[in-house]
Amino acid sequence: MAEPKPVRLAFVGAGNHSTAALYPNLPLIPGVELVGVCDLQADRAERVARAYGAKPFSNCAAMLDALNPDAVCACGMPDMHHGVAMQVLERGIPVWIEKPPAPTLHQAKELAAAAHRAGTFGMVGFMKRFAPANVVTKEYLDSGRFGALASVLLIHGSGPYGHLRPMLMFNGIHPIDSVRYFGGEVEAVHAFAHASTDGVQSVVVNLRFASGVPGQLNLNSGGTWSDCYEYTYLAGHQAQATIVGCREAEIMSPAGRFAQVPGIMPFGWSNRYYVSGTMSHWEAGGHYTRGYFGELDHFVRAVRGEVQPVATLADGVEAMRLIDAIIASVEGRREVLLSDIV
Ligand SMILES: NC(=O)c1ccc[n+]([C@@H]2O[C@H](COP(=O)([O-])OP(=O)(O)OC[C@H]3O[C@@H](n4cnc5c(N)ncnc54)[C@H](O)[C@@H]3O)[C@@H](O)[C@H]2O)c1
Repeated sequence: MAEPKPVRLAFVGAGNHSTAALYPNLPLIPGVELVGVCDLQADRAERVARAYGAKPFSNCAAMLDALNPDAVCACGMPDMHHGVAMQVLERGIPVWIEKPPAPTLHQAKELAAAAHRAGTFGMVGFMKRFAPANVVTKEYLDSGRFGALASVLLIHGSGPYGHLRPMLMFNGIHPIDSVRYFGGEVEAVHAFAHASTDGVQSVVVNLRFASGVPGQLNLNSGGTWSDCYEYTYLAGHQAQATIVGCREAEIMSPAGRFAQVPGIMPFGWSNRYYVSGTMSHWEAGGHYTRGYFGELDHFVRAVRGEVQPVATLADGVEAMRLIDAIIASVEGRREVLLSDIV
């Protein structure tokens, strides 16, 4: 049987993150051809286009007109994600955009509506959903062996941010999406925040999921960019799970006990899953461990129609709604229902 035609992909943005963590995945993904690279800074577009055998552009509309690609990725600032994605979706072309999907909840909703109108789809760069340590844990949760979910805790320490909103928009949005990934829809939040005189932001958010189950986010910007910290604890009726960074998942489950050996009392009953590679760099496998390979590979397969898109524009809307709800709760010093954030 003839190989299907490769997906012809155009990419907007050739800055720091995309150059370090996104473009290097493309040669490893089967069935995708990078045909165009666009950046307002022509030298950036030319450098990346040369490295991957694509055509450079410094204007997105000109690239779309010239190449008519099958799919588009965009990695810049939130207003760029919104502007590029609107153009792409209006042409009926699927789009993948980095997080945050847009500057505001309203603009994130515009993207979801544009995709719906055009009969196509968009994905948002919530790469934690593709980090193998999270994927195997979620698989266990959904397997029936975990029992019903009892509670969820996510801790996240990032590099510095001067204000709460940018911390939530640019970094907090990852654990904010992850609470929905693990716990389902959130019904209400009650958040407490503090900003220190030297600019460290911290916020603790109590959550009530639609299932009635409680959860908690504990986020701060007191770390450095090379020492970000992530920890997830999930309690179920039959098991518990912890995930440290994107490196290691551990399931504590009576069903996972070692075999009974006469004369030996096995006190340990955890199953560990380690991912090789560190959180940080491409060279150390961080592109795979952290989910960058997985998110782009999934996008390409969704464009082919092989899988349903996940981490969709609708998920982007819900993440932005949660951010607005957390800020409304901090400012109003009260519980906020997500249904009141429109
Ligand atoms: N998921 C993650 O782990 C992660 C990590 C770091 C950054 N990010 C995200 O990546 C995004 C980019 O961050 P960065 O540090 O690479 O920024 P950057 O400024 O280095 O890169 C953005 C690039 O986009 C280009 N650009 C802007 N508007 C454009 C337009 N209209 N058309 C074409 N090119 C345009 C800029 O010239 C620049 O080269 C941010 O939204 C950030 O949230 C994600």
